[in-house]
Amino acid sequence: MGSNSIEAPLAKRLEGKVALITGGSNGIGACTALLFIRHGAKVVIADIDENLGYPINEVGLGENLYFIHCDVTKETDVENAVDTTVAKYGKLDIMFNNAGIGGKPGGQIHNITGEDLKEVFDINVNGSFYGAKHAARVMIPQKKGTIIFNSSASSAIILGEVPHAYTMSKHAVVGLSKSLCVELGQYGIRVNSVSSYGCATPMFKNQMNDEGEGKWEDLWTRAANLKGVVLKAEDVADAVLFLASDEAKYVSGLNLVLDGGYSTTNPSFSMAVKANLENAAKQN
Ligand SMILES: NC(=O)c1ccc[n+]([C@@H]2O[C@H](COP(=O)([O-])OP(=O)(O)OC[C@H]3O[C@@H](n4cnc5c(N)ncnc54)[C@H](O)[C@@H]3O)[C@@H](O)[C@H]2O)c1
Repeated sequence: MGSNSIEAPLAKRLEGKVALITGGSNGIGACTALLFIRHGAKVVIADIDENLGYPINEVGLGENLYFIHCDVTKETDVENAVDTTVAKYGKLDIMFNNAGIGGKPGGQIHNITGEDLKEVFDINVNGSFYGAKHAARVMIPQKKGTIIFNSSASSAIILGEVPHAYTMSKHAVVGLSKSLCVELGQYGIRVNSVSSYGCATPMFKNQMNDEGEGKWEDLWTRAANLKGVVLKAEDVADAVLFLASDEAKYVSGLNLVLDGGYSTTNPSFSMAVKANLENAAKQN
């Protein structure tokens, strides 16, 4: 792990807050759960995987961390997760709709079935919608709260190798985030999304068929615009912490793109120029 705020928080930025994180047993959700706890929050993880993965397994369940089994494709499960959070900790300040899957890797459009689309949309889109819907139900009477969606850099760029269903679902999530920001502002509720570039989590490794050798992380890093940094799940958690904290008290409707400038970069022209120069050099 790097030397970021997961290891050494300077100040508790979520003291007294209560958070619900879907898909919090692993990857970005687990890093966010741990970071939130270290910043003074009480956290409920809602996931289908009852085994807490790294790094949240380091603290384990206790006074500040509760687990509830929840399949986000089932609205009643999500409703129950929200109600259990309020029953256990008295309120809900932060809803992080994070659970997501990559779906069937690759695939040209003529090979993608309705079932493939449905699997991804049920979790990434409908699950996020249910999370937002039931969080809003309890936040509106509180007249405060913050809802955060985990989208993806594929909502901001044309990536090619990412499955169509995944890209579609992550655009939909940003659409919901922006649309909901308009509705909930009147109640003092902030709504934002975070869209990160690739980082090595269990999902990423399954999606890219990475056998733990880090070859895909290496490839992403080589393709990155910003050099000298490898994006980690902890870095995404840091961005979510900012959006969840009062430091972002006037931030709403933002899709916070965490991609080191990748979506702003189009290297095609410089690659063509370089190839041209190399060809010319070979001919001379
Ligand atoms: N890893 C990346 O490179 C990356 C980049 C951009 C965005 N994201 C997004 O971040 C989010 C988290 O991904 P991750 O990389 O940490 O993946 P992960 O596989 O490490 O974690 C995802 C978690 O979601 C849970 N989950 C899956 N289906 C569920 C369901 N139906 N109900 C409840 N929980 C369910 C899993 O059990 C798991 O704990 C996803 O929405 C993903 O699209 C990931």
